[in-house]
Amino acid sequence: MAETKTVGVVGNGQMGSGIAQLAALHGLHVWLLDTDPDALSKARKSVTSNIHRLVSKGHLSQAAFNDAVGRLYCTSKLEELREADFVIEAIVESEDVKKKLFLEVDKFVKSSAILASNTSSISITRLASATSRPSQVIGMHFMNPPPIMKLVEIVRGADTSDETFYATRALAERFGKTVICSQDFSGFIVNRILMPMINEAIHTLYTGVATKEDIDTGMKLGTNHPMGPLELADFIGLDVCLSIMKVLHAGLGESKYAPCPLLVQYVDAGRLGRKRGIGVYDYRKTPEQVKPSARL
Ligand SMILES: NC(=O)c1ccc[n+]([C@@H]2O[C@H](COP(=O)([O-])OP(=O)(O)OC[C@H]3O[C@@H](n4cnc5c(N)ncnc54)[C@H](O)[C@@H]3O)[C@@H](O)[C@H]2O)c1
Repeated sequence: MAETKTVGVVGNGQMGSGIAQLAALHGLHVWLLDTDPDALSKARKSVTSNIHRLVSKGHLSQAAFNDAVGRLYCTSKLEELREADFVIEAIVESEDVKKKLFLEVDKFVKSSAILASNTSSISITRLASATSRPSQVIGMHFMNPPPIMKLVEIVRGADTSDETFYATRALAERFGKTVICSQDFSGFIVNRILMPMINEAIHTLYTGVATKEDIDTGMKLGTNHPMGPLELADFIGLDVCLSIMKVLHAGLGESKYAPCPLLVQYVDAGRLGRKRGIGVYDYRKTPEQVKPSARL
């Protein structure tokens, strides 16, 4: 398979903009695509300013900055992805919405292109079944934030070819990531283990066992986690956590994966975490509350 030169990143929220940044910094031409024009311009701004920060810190030359930013293109049209060798989808965590997108992308990109999903939990096999190229569909699960976190979890669907796997692994390694490989079962490796822990932390809060601060401090100092589970849930996005719990519950069929009612209520109330200024914690008030850890 030819080397990847052009990447399309579909969905430019928290994850997509970080993936686009990585790709631009590693010499690729990058098409950013989002249906929301505000998200697209915010993503372009954040990618540009994050790369510029590397120049300010002396980690990158001005010429390399100009090159990376010059390889970023924004669009809202799938037709523009026709030159892409590799498309990474990072839209909302909904199987129906992702399937619809895969069906459409499949029509516009060249026949050799690989279609990867950054899904946290949804079946790659089912996303692949919406396309005419299931052997070229794969899960490429970056962690948040993609430029910082070292891991990429690669998920092979039932029909993913070895060629697709090797090309995806080569791309992740080009980004400097360590790769782990999972079979295609709900939640894969990382979220199969992480999300029930976050859900249990929310249950611990819901049932009045402890305050949110004590739950997070307990897990940070008691188990050496860098962030408490509630703080992490806000960072990931409570809507994303809820979607993943629903996928685990439906896919693995055990009541232990049922989302905590308090998680459901937070999402119903629009308390989605840091991105909305309020989740388990309220980030809108005093400067100390911007960082829960500052109170501990
Ligand atoms: N947030 C995390 O910590 C995290 C970590 C790993 C993986 N993921 C996965 O990454 C994906 C994206 O998560 P996020 O946190 O970046 O979400 P987000 O809400 O920040 O961004 C999603 C973006 O997708 C855009 N979008 C929605 N439908 C679209 C469509 N049909 N076509 C084009 N753009 C569309 C939205 O406008 C938005 O900008 C999800 O599948 C999620 O499970 C998230």
